[in-house]
Amino acid sequence: EYVIVDGEVLDRTEAKVDIEDRGYQFGDGVYEVIRVYNGKMFTGIEHLKRLAESAEKIRMKLPYSPEELLSRMEELISKNELDTGTVYMQFTRGTSPRNHVFPGGNVAPTFVAYTRKVARPVDPMEKGVRAILDEDIRWLRCDIKSLNLLGNLLSKQKAAEAGCFEAILHRGETVTEGSHSNISIVKDGVIITHQADNHILNGITRQKVLEICRNEGIPFEERAYTLDELSSADEVFSSGTTVEVMPVVEVAGKPVGNGQPGTVTRKLQTLFKTEIE
Ligand code: PDD
Repeated sequence: EYVIVDGEVLDRTEAKVDIEDRGYQFGDGVYEVIRVYNGKMFTGIEHLKRLAESAEKIRMKLPYSPEELLSRMEELISKNELDTGTVYMQFTRGTSPRNHVFPGGNVAPTFVAYTRKVARPVDPMEKGVRAILDEDIRWLRCDIKSLNLLGNLLSKQKAAEAGCFEAILHRGETVTEGSHSNISIVKDGVIITHQADNHILNGITRQKVLEICRNEGIPFEERAYTLDELSSADEVFSSGTTVEVMPVVEVAGKPVGNGQPGTVTRKLQTLFKTEIE
């Protein structure tokens, strides 16, 4: 199994990161997860452009362009002979003596990337999944795909302990997103999904779904919606790189609609599948 550390392709057993890496000590860095289908990255450049944007938002300069990174990832995928899975990459602000202040310009970011075999979640996509509700206690820059995921982890762990797939997060009455995916609802045939602002990560899958809606004439609204709207929705679905378009059939112990994946969600799944083939 090959990995990339600071631009070098190494065997995983030889990869090393310093104990004073700022990612390790502060979560001071950004990351991306890209889906690989049939050996090819899906929406790779979109993910890598978002990575560059996340880096810029935390005032970090990446030593590679999205296009350069794309070819490095292609190289890694082919070296590992990955067919269906994910490629993970992260950049931290580098290694230097622990200090809250950024290190000087002579300290280069630490760049790590690796691949993993991950099957498509065919079974849950077919049957639908359950979700809990949890207060969104994260910071106010959820648009940045940062390594600081403690708020997300605490919510996801709560969901897992309740035997659920996702925690749907809300700030007071407003639903934001999931702990590791975007959450949309369907009411009277209209998809409603939180607008891309500082409260959510603007998911690449979410953007792909909206592009499909535009092309197919499926109506949608990008706006904040309430917990009441969530509980009276006809359909709820989660979207994300690894989960694709995932029907949510139960929220906080209450069935969504008739408790089965809905027709709009099904249609989106079918259209999404044609995109990845
Ligand atoms: N999670 N919102 C959050 C909080 C996420 O962590 C993710 C993705 C998404 C969906 O984004 P996208 O469609 O671009 O994957 C939304 C990734 C996969 C992860 O952390 O593993």
